[in-house]
Amino acid sequence: MKRILLIGMGAGNPEHITVQAINALNQTDVFFILDKGYANDDLLRLRREMCERYISGDYRVVQVQDPQREENTQSYEAGIHDWHQQRAALFEQLIGDEVADGEVGAFLVWGDPTLYDSTLRILDRVLERGAQVFDYQVIPGITSVQALVAQHRIPLNRIGEPIQITTGRRLAQQAADEIQNVVVLLDAHCRFDALADSDLHIYWGAYLGTPDEILISGRLRDVSAEIMRVREGARRKKGWIMDTYLLRRPY
Ligand SMILES: C[S@@+](CC[C@H](N)C(=O)[O-])C[C@H]1O[C@@H](n2cnc3c(N)ncnc32)[C@H](O)[C@@H]1O
Repeated sequence: MKRILLIGMGAGNPEHITVQAINALNQTDVFFILDKGYANDDLLRLRREMCERYISGDYRVVQVQDPQREENTQSYEAGIHDWHQQRAALFEQLIGDEVADGEVGAFLVWGDPTLYDSTLRILDRVLERGAQVFDYQVIPGITSVQALVAQHRIPLNRIGEPIQITTGRRLAQQAADEIQNVVVLLDAHCRFDALADSDLHIYWGAYLGTPDEILISGRLRDVSAEIMRVREGARRKKGWIMDTYLLRRPY
């Protein structure tokens, strides 16, 4: 039987890797690294460096271009569905061609494989297609959410209060008075700025866990413009940015 591991690598700090993940790295015969094309070589280099740092034996690396998501004119969901089908076909081919019976293949996943990452869903789809048979396991990783709150030295939840995790696209559909504690990922458009008239606080972090990390926090109305300016400057300088933030209503 082939075995596939989804290994959470943490969100940027090479020390944010678990002992379980290091053991999984050392059991792996072939690593699949998906080049998503949006963050130039930095994220790929970081993953390769983590393999070099933590693996003592031999291994193979197969790096492939991840299919780009095309805008679907019908709906966002239809676009995602088409994209996942293309990725399932690619994964099926990789597992078929590169993992022999009895071998272990692994996907190195940014942060944790269960948070806003489709690798797990795609593997389920590959199994449904029936051409490949394999066992698979998820190795959790430190998420960007955990890195954000740790770096700001704040608890993720306040006592007795819920915490919501969402995307920039969904935040844009929420009114300020509905927000109590919300963590936002995948926001390329600084959606927080539309809420800058509210009394919300923001804890913002970019390139968390890396040497380029930037942290800004304060009343949204005071720091929103600064975050957008700093974010745009950093994005231009490095060519890419990944940022996450927590919006919180003060007591
Ligand atoms: C596709 S999601 C992947 C999330 C990942 N699986 C995790 O556990 O954090 C990508 C988003 O995660 C957030 N992210 C990931 N790494 C980050 C980092 N080092 N600093 C800030 N945000 C990060 C950003 O919001 C980015 O748009």
